[in-house]
Amino acid sequence: MMKTFYITTPIYYPSAKLHIGSAYTTVLCDTLKRYKSLKGYDTRFLTGMDEHGQKIEEAAKANKKTPKEHVDYISKLTQELWALLKIDNDDFIRTTEPRHEAIIARIFEQLKAKGDIYLGEYIGHYCIHDEAFFTPTQLLPGELCPDCGRKTELVKEETYFFRLSRYQDRLLQYIEDHPDFIVPETRKNEVVQFIKSNLTDISVSRTAFSWGIPVKSDPKHVIYVWIDALFNYISALGFQADDDHLYQKYWVKGDEIVHVIGKDILRFHAVYWPAFLMALDLPIRFRLFVHGWYLMKDGKMSKSKGNVVYPEMLVNRFGLDSFRYFIIKELPYGNDGLFTPEDYVMRINTDLVNDYGNLLSRSITMANKYLAGTINERSHEMPERVFEAELEELSREVLTNYSRNMDEFKLTNALFDISRLIARTNKLIDETLPWDLAKKPENREVLESVIYHLLEALRIATILYRPFLIDTPQKVFEMLGVEPTDIGFDSAIFGQKKNYHVSAKPTHLFPRLDMEKEVAAIREWMNPSVPEATITENPLIDIESFSLIDIRVGTVRECTTHKNAKKLLVCQIDTGDKVRQVVSGIAEHYQPENLIGRKLLVIVNLEPIKLRGELSEGMILCGENADKELIVIEADGRLNPGDKVK
Ligand code: MSP
Repeated sequence: MMKTFYITTPIYYPSAKLHIGSAYTTVLCDTLKRYKSLKGYDTRFLTGMDEHGQKIEEAAKANKKTPKEHVDYISKLTQELWALLKIDNDDFIRTTEPRHEAIIARIFEQLKAKGDIYLGEYIGHYCIHDEAFFTPTQLLPGELCPDCGRKTELVKEETYFFRLSRYQDRLLQYIEDHPDFIVPETRKNEVVQFIKSNLTDISVSRTAFSWGIPVKSDPKHVIYVWIDALFNYISALGFQADDDHLYQKYWVKGDEIVHVIGKDILRFHAVYWPAFLMALDLPIRFRLFVHGWYLMKDGKMSKSKGNVVYPEMLVNRFGLDSFRYFIIKELPYGNDGLFTPEDYVMRINTDLVNDYGNLLSRSITMANKYLAGTINERSHEMPERVFEAELEELSREVLTNYSRNMDEFKLTNALFDISRLIARTNKLIDETLPWDLAKKPENREVLESVIYHLLEALRIATILYRPFLIDTPQKVFEMLGVEPTDIGFDSAIFGQKKNYHVSAKPTHLFPRLDMEKEVAAIREWMNPSVPEATITENPLIDIESFSLIDIRVGTVRECTTHKNAKKLLVCQIDTGDKVRQVVSGIAEHYQPENLIGRKLLVIVNLEPIKLRGELSEGMILCGENADKELIVIEADGRLNPGDKVK
């Protein structure tokens, strides 16, 4: 029987567009899922959206949408992002789906019936951003949230409480009996400290807003988002549903279950979640792997700071595999990591272009040049010299370390293991100088052996890269002429493939990046004046919504390039009511003087905004063609400044 492996990401709040930090958890889970599948496990990978709560209700309001419209829209964007990143999830759960809501409502009643949930009154501070309650002693000065630093609100309302205090001893006992329950160790210690500092009962319902699952027996209450959210891990498996075979298979009888989470949501997963399961007499079968955060030089990523990088931008410009490689490599196990544009470009150029890509192209070129692309089986029975023997030895060591690191979720270290193998293989070229060997026919066998070792090491390194890189391994195997029978994990043994016939010409796996140019490009995206990554499809709007947009004909009177942003033009446009200044991102498409005198279409009722220090009171309408050229839309000669477009 195949062993099972069930892995989950946290379900995401649809409150903001996902940036590289939030995408990290999902790429990491996907990498682990691919690793376990390659190891022969029966895997299941769940991700999804956490769609209820006050925070979502407020985000929807800010976007002038109903909560349902808002969550539908963001959930679609999120799934598009996972498709772009080739995330291979088996299910995508949304907490607004009936399959989930029905179970949560029932669980709440079950906990109530058992006396673990009781009615009371809550007076305390609530952080909407973190959807968490705090006692006065936990708050930062100024009643700020200790987790995110935002202002908390004082809440005084009737609420249901969950008897968390009842589970204090059992939780400590559980953690002691299961030393691997929470990794890394430092996170486990944090949890133990927190539990020992005395658990108080927690409020698990709200009456101040309505976007949530109502308590069946008392519908003016909605169920606290964390009860709602945490149970997604089993509602998605069909827990308490008519067909619960997935729940039985992956949870009750499953072999390995891992919840991967960021450090900010540790308490909910390590204290509340097992306590809820204990209260319902359900098995606790999961382990927690807690990772750190991607930070920017000036702290947390945030749109208002203008330091956010979105995955779409990096993937569209530099490719998917380098993105996935970078974000896994740069976040060290258990710690926070820093994202800098310089590191991004440098890492791709060093690891992927120089070390891996060059090794591949040099090896294939030499195999063709000196051995007509073919190495026959007989050649490697010849005696090996110390260099080749060392490489073989290292490949065995790397495989052992790599597997241990992957099993312990130390993905960065596993990538370092592969890098060691690649570095040693590159060194073999320097040690043996194949071009010199090729000069004398009597060296033929030694030369064959060297090239064989290069190709075999590349094959093994590429197998080990398979959980991390999505499209590259297949390209490499094709160039090396490796058949599907020799690309599995159990084939990552030196000497497994006996002969080679490589392709005639290597293709470049990763183009070399121009450091200065690409760093500047990434910085430009991080600038808050640059619009967010394009959203592919917009929801339908009605005619009233459209009529809110005031579009007028306007004649450009003056136009100059923005002094602090070379992509922006600053235009003075006569729109009938006045001459207004409009800043437009079309400098790459128009010379300023070529716009003067043209009659364009301008949105005049956009909220004024400063773009890199220049006031903009409107927006010039443009069309974008397939070559990504922006072309201004010109008005017919019979229209005059101020004429309305409808
Ligand atoms: N909805 C809750 C989770 C409920 S799970 C039952 C939530 N959502 S979230 O969208 O705010 O965060 C989702 C995940 O992204 C969390 O694991 C969080 O730690 C992670 N990250 C968000 N920003 C991050 C970085 N800058 N770096 C790495 N991970 C980060 O919490």
